[in-house]
Amino acid sequence: MNVIVVANQKGGVGKTTVAMQLGAALSRRHRVLVVDTDRQGSVGWWADRSRHHLAFDLTATQSLLALGRIRELEGRYHYVLIDTAGGVEGGALMDTVMDAADFVLVPMTPDPLAFAPTLHTISRLIEPRMLRFSVLLNRIDPCIPHQAAGWCDLLDSVYGIPRFDHHLREYRAHADAPALGDVLTTLPDNRRTRGVIADVTTVGYELEAQFESALAGRW
Ligand SMILES: Nc1ncnc2c1ncn2[C@@H]1O[C@H](COP(=O)(O)OP(=O)(O)OP(=O)(O)O)[C@@H](O)[C@H]1O
Ligand SMILES: [Mg+2]
Repeated sequence: MNVIVVANQKGGVGKTTVAMQLGAALSRRHRVLVVDTDRQGSVGWWADRSRHHLAFDLTATQSLLALGRIRELEGRYHYVLIDTAGGVEGGALMDTVMDAADFVLVPMTPDPLAFAPTLHTISRLIEPRMLRFSVLLNRIDPCIPHQAAGWCDLLDSVYGIPRFDHHLREYRAHADAPALGDVLTTLPDNRRTRGVIADVTTVGYELEAQFESALAGRW
């Protein structure tokens, strides 16, 4: 079982979007649980709107006891994705979740104001635990040439931060997905959704490949 915590203390960078969409992507090939630890309850709100069966399980909890025992689900799920709240510096809940993590996925928007909170999340919550992690750029503007390349350069050369090769572009279909209850596996395939489907599918494979590398001892 692989526990993936989706975290960035910066609010609104796409933590819930990434947990739901990548949960759906991984559910095509694996047994997946998405855990909402945010009191906002966005995961449940999103799932309640779905008109389709979701191929992954969902639960919401802030119980330190339950989260501390997440390993007891070993054998039932291949991937557990834990969505966390924005605006959180730390605290017992975040500590418990981070202590359970095998990998931290850090979504980040191409916004200069997202940099400091992202670095803070890495230095305060991730690095002290020596956890594997990777930044995922989200809301890259498909109309701005080289936007992603510029941000990748910054992450690589200035900060030396591990990152995904691929990214998620900004699409209306992403923003509409919670209210429509849609995730990758329930989206109709049309011009409006094509970019979302392509990006989430690609990042899903890249995420899986990271775990396969770990198994092969290449991590
Ligand atoms: N790639 C994208 N394209 C368009 N809209 C997006 C994209 N990613 C996220 N959004 C939208 O941006 C908003 C914030 O995303 P989301 O709720 O996933 O962020 P979050 O990090 O979970 O926020 P919080 O810190 O409040 O929990 C939502 O309205 C979401 O639909
Ligand atoms: Mg959220």
